[in-house]
Amino acid sequence: MLTITGLNKTYPNHKRGLKDVTLTFTPGVTAIIGPSGAGKTTLLRSINRLITPESGTVVLGDQEIRTANAKALRRVRRQIGMIFQDYNLIEELAAIDNVLHGCLGAKSWLAGILGRYTAAEQERALRLLSEVGLADFATQRCADLSGGQKQRVGIARALMQEPQVILCDEPIASLDPASTQAVMTLLTDLAKRGLMIIVNLHQVDIARDYADHIVGVNHGQIVFDGPTSALDEVALAKIYHKEAVVTDA
Ligand SMILES: Nc1ncnc2c1ncn2[C@@H]1O[C@H](COP(=O)(O)OP(=O)(O)OP(=O)(O)O)[C@@H](O)[C@H]1O
Ligand SMILES: [Mg+2]
Repeated sequence: MLTITGLNKTYPNHKRGLKDVTLTFTPGVTAIIGPSGAGKTTLLRSINRLITPESGTVVLGDQEIRTANAKALRRVRRQIGMIFQDYNLIEELAAIDNVLHGCLGAKSWLAGILGRYTAAEQERALRLLSEVGLADFATQRCADLSGGQKQRVGIARALMQEPQVILCDEPIASLDPASTQAVMTLLTDLAKRGLMIIVNLHQVDIARDYADHIVGVNHGQIVFDGPTSALDEVALAKIYHKEAVVTDA
């Protein structure tokens, strides 16, 4: 379980990223929706502390993340995979090499820098590529893959670290409908295996089709938190309301 309590983030320019956010995530797909600038990325990146909020707690298992020391942070980050809208792959490297990078966090600095991977790691990377439907593309340069294929490499790389949680920041924003369906189906399959999939989305219909749970963010605040079936017009009006529901005062 992943629990967020009383999380606040204000950027140096006084922009409010998050305001008193309290949420609990369980295995399944949770979609985070809300207008541009609502705080979705801030929320997602606070979970693995790519952004450090100034107060509140983020607890995965028994580890508090916001105040964790460097060693504890490294350990807990292995439990949290991430995939990105622009894939964040090394384009010049083969798909399998990108997937292998997913286990760098668990390797010594030297083994990592020398690109030394065990036979077991290489087999696992190949198996994961095959699981995401890319068995035949292992040695292909990522630069030569389609957007949908790149995102599936990104998912295989995240899985390489055997995470409990996968954070996805607009993973389908650059994809066509067929690739969107492939990526979202893959994510829902992972959720059925017990992973927590937390996905920022701009498309409400995609959230409705694939998520078990929806979190609605507006002006840094949670204005909806419930099962997908409860996302009605009233909830949507609240989430996409242009004015702050509660002022920043
Ligand atoms: N590094 C930063 N410095 C200053 N302000 C920031 C920074 N990052 C985000 N913000 C501000 O924090 C607020 C929330 O931004 P965030 O990126 O989390 O929104 P978002 O919901 O992900 O938006 P989008 O849908 O456009 O990706 C916005 O007002 C944004 O301008
Ligand atoms: Mg964003």
